[in-house]
Order: sequence, then C-alpha cells, then structure tokens
Amino acid sequence: MCDDMPDFEDFDDEADDDDDDFPDFDDDWDRDSSGPTETIMDKHEAAEINDVAPSSLSHLIGQRGVIDQVRVALDAAQMDGKKFDHALLVGPPGMGKSALAAVIAQEMATDFHEVLGQSIKNAADLNTLLLSAKNKDVVHIDECHELSKEYQTALYLAVDKRKLIIQNGKTPMTLPLADFTLLLSTTDEYGLLQPCRDRMKLLLRFDFYSEPELVEVLRHRSKALRWSVDEVVFTEIPKRAKGTPRLALRLLQSARRCARAEGETTITLDHFHRACGLERIDNLGLGPTETKYLQILTNGATRLNVLASMLGLPSRTVSEVTEPFLVRAGLIIKDDQGRRQLTQFGFDHCGQNARPD
Ligand SMILES: Nc1ncnc2c1ncn2[C@@H]1O[C@H](COP(=O)(O)OP(=O)(O)O)[C@@H](O)[C@H]1O
Ligand SMILES: [Mg+2]
Repeated sequence: MCDDMPDFEDFDDEADDDDDDFPDFDDDWDRDSSGPTETIMDKHEAAEINDVAPSSLSHLIGQRGVIDQVRVALDAAQMDGKKFDHALLVGPPGMGKSALAAVIAQEMATDFHEVLGQSIKNAADLNTLLLSAKNKDVVHIDECHELSKEYQTALYLAVDKRKLIIQNGKTPMTLPLADFTLLLSTTDEYGLLQPCRDRMKLLLRFDFYSEPELVEVLRHRSKALRWSVDEVVFTEIPKRAKGTPRLALRLLQSARRCARAEGETTITLDHFHRACGLERIDNLGLGPTETKYLQILTNGATRLNVLASMLGLPSRTVSEVTEPFLVRAGLIIKDDQGRRQLTQFGFDHCGQNARPD
C-alpha cells in the first residue's frame, strides 16, 4: 500500500446515491505502491487504472454465477478450516479471471503466487513455484494452456500426489508439497490436458458483461481512483467495450490521458471522443484491423488465409482475436465452406448496402 495515499473516508462522503446496490468499498481497494506523487497531480488521485484493484468478492461486478460458486466454496473452506478447492477459470481475455484469482487469495487471507504459463520453461521453474507455496496458499497459473504438455502432466501428478520427484543425479529425490490451492486460468480450456482439467474441482466460466455491468465497473473504478468523470462517459464507453472490463477500463484511461493532456481534471465526453479518434476506434469499438477486415469483405466472401495475408497477420490471430467479436456482434458469418462474409448489419456498418441476391 502507498503511504501517501489518503484514507478513502472523505471520498465516500461524495459517493453517488445511485449505486446503493453496491457496497461502499473504496476504503479497502488494493492500491499499488507505485502510485502517483503529489507533485504531478492532486494527491488524492491515482494515475493508472490498475493503481487500484478489487480486493474482495464484493468488489467484483457481474458474473453472478461465478461469484456465487466462489462464495459457496469460500464458505465451505472456512467452515472446514481447509484450503479453497482447485479451480479452472475459463473465459475470453480481460474478463476478470486474474482479478478473481487474486481476490480468492485475499478472501482466504493466504499468500498468492502467480505466474504465466509461458514463463514456465523448465522443470526447475515449475518446481520452484510449487515448492514456494505453503498450506492453503493460492497458486495461480495464468494462460495455463501455454504450459507445455510435459509440464501439465508434471503439474497434475505433483498436485495429485502432493509431492515432487526430482531427478538428482542417479537417485530420484522426493520432496513433499504443501496442501495449496491451484487456480488455472485459460482462454482455451481444450488446450489443457483432460486429466489436468479433471483435477480442478470447480469450473468457473466467465461470460461477456452487459453494458450496465460495465457502467458499474467504470463507475466504481473511477471512484476508487478518485477520478472525476462526467456521467455520460460511463454510459458511452461500454458501447465500445465489447462486453469486456479490460477494454472499458483501457478506454477510460485513454480518455483520462486526453483530459490530462489538456490540463483538465474532469474527463468529459469530448475527451473520450478524442481518445477514440486517436486510436481509430469506431462507434462499435472496432479498431483499425477490424475495420480493414470488414472492408475486405465488402468485395465478397473471403477465406481466412486470404484475409490473414491481406491483413498481414497469422491466420490464428485473425480467427482467435479479430473474428470472435465480429461474429458475436452479428457483423460477419462463416459459410459452409468456411468463407467469411458480411451480414446486412456488417454492410450497413461499412456504410454500404448489401448487394441484391
Ligand atoms: N467483475 C469485475 N469487476 C470489477 N473489475 C473487473 C471485473 N472483471 C475484471 N475487472 C478488471 O478488468 C481488468 C481485466 O481483468 P483481468 O482479471 O486481468 O482479466 P483476465 O485475467 O480474464 O484477462 C482488471 O483491471 C480487473 O480488475
Ligand atoms: Mg489474466
């Protein structure tokens, strides 16, 4: 926690009346110690959207199903004096999987050990992680589908047997492991070995957020950061955030950058529009790549590999990053031959009329 950060009590007095459904939680949000200094801005204000982070389950907005599952598991663990059950967190990027993993550790009042799957490059990396955890600690492997099959196997065997077998010269050495909680996060659950998935007692599946939920995410984050934001900005950002808190928060940060560049302290709709203009984000939240993708399709149905080469991107990136939102928004469809084409809505969005049948 940052010493020069003020208590939040005085700020609570200014709390909006319209968020009574949500607890007043500004007083205990996690604040990053790398927060701003008084010289650059108001001493109450934090500069980065991630200078604060949810630190309790009540700070997390939406995802009712997931939150209910976690609450029951926390209650059960606390009643039995046991660790939180192993869990698999599945969902698109930016949905709150890492935020929830950190909150579970905070709610359990245990240490939190977090690594990215791709950063485990050898057995020593994995062993160090597992040996560092104490009883009831939370070990979170983010992007766990990036963990090689070999280490996924080593991981579930180690967790199953609660021990590590280390090859020390010719004699294998057995080291006991603590009874910790393993949380695995992934955007691609089938990139995980089935036995690894089966070891996870809870399956927490995240879904896209509604616009009102994103409004709440933005409102509460601004309040915790002590950013002054015009109300209309809270309702406009979610229209371009693709149901994703990370995108909504990133847009808010961009709007704030525009406000600060003009020396302003309140983020207005003009600042937000200016940020969208600078980043070439359109009224549906589509960026330059997606806009170019749609433009290519105005010339007719196109195969993935052709689209990818015209965009200068790997096919996998196009199908896994660019296309999901375009499909979900109803802008494109894939035909029986796997060719991509614009829907009427897609044509309308590109400012063109659909060609007659
Ligand atoms: N339900 C939520 N309520 C409040 N903030 C959220 C919520 N979900 C995500 N966030 C915020 O959105 C950002 C992205 O979340 P993150 O946990 O990194 O996503 P993921 O791990 O799924 O990619 C973080 O700043 C996080 O605090
Ligand atoms: Mg994450």
